[in-house]
Amino acid sequence: MNTSANSSSNRTPLIAGNWKMNMDHVQGSSLLQHLAEALSEAKHDYDRVEVAVFPPFTSLSAVQTLIQDDGLGLVSGGQDLSPFDSGAYTGDVSGRFLARLGCKYVLVGHSERRTIHGETDEILNAKVKAAYRQALTPVLCVGEGLDIRRAGTHVQHTLAQLRASVDGLTTDQAAGLVVAYEPVWAIGTGEVAGPEDAQEMCGAIRAELAGLFGQDVAPKTRLLYGGSVKASNAPSMLHETDVDGVLVGGASLDADEFASIAGFERQLAG
Ligand code: 13P
Repeated sequence: MNTSANSSSNRTPLIAGNWKMNMDHVQGSSLLQHLAEALSEAKHDYDRVEVAVFPPFTSLSAVQTLIQDDGLGLVSGGQDLSPFDSGAYTGDVSGRFLARLGCKYVLVGHSERRTIHGETDEILNAKVKAAYRQALTPVLCVGEGLDIRRAGTHVQHTLAQLRASVDGLTTDQAAGLVVAYEPVWAIGTGEVAGPEDAQEMCGAIRAELAGLFGQDVAPKTRLLYGGSVKASNAPSMLHETDVDGVLVGGASLDADEFASIAGFERQLAG
């Protein structure tokens, strides 16, 4: 189990909510307020378990203003960024703009970006580096589709995505990175991978990072599981040795549900 109560791991658990293309800035402000209230009622300790939200770009400013003005313990991130810092890239958003808003994180390579927008591992490697140029922490998403899972080559496939995306990072960058394992077949389908599936992949990712960046780096990198996570299944995922958090889609749009995911330690204790 990877809570800060566990002396074998200093990795702070990260509970991340990817709102995807939901919540305009009015709805997003309301969701954030409800979430902050639910966490406050639960006496959530943000130093112990970090809570991050990833609103759409147009809602980020409203959410970030609330976080700053109300001194909330939550942090925010963008759902994507340009590989470039500025220039003639119509429709793209620079990591610099996200950093300026006060974002801490940015998602890179979500499967919906890979599939719908054709983002390749080379582009994602450039995006990871663009994030670090602006002192943002990338949450790099990797994972296999159903065909690859059925063929039994999911570990090789996912590690190949990882290797290509982290190419050229420094050891400090690799240590600070967050990697989210999201099996595509478990996203938005209600089909949840088992805790042992999450552990198999997160263990393989950590071993790969140790091979690439060293045995002292890999234990620092935080690894998340994502795909149909709810309050009912989050604790068993987070109980696994190499699972340091969850990346939540649908259930992050319900403030009470997401707050109870963030309170997974109580469920594990109870
Ligand atoms: P769901 O939790 O809705 O399956 O989405 C997972 C996801 O894609 C988070 O990034």
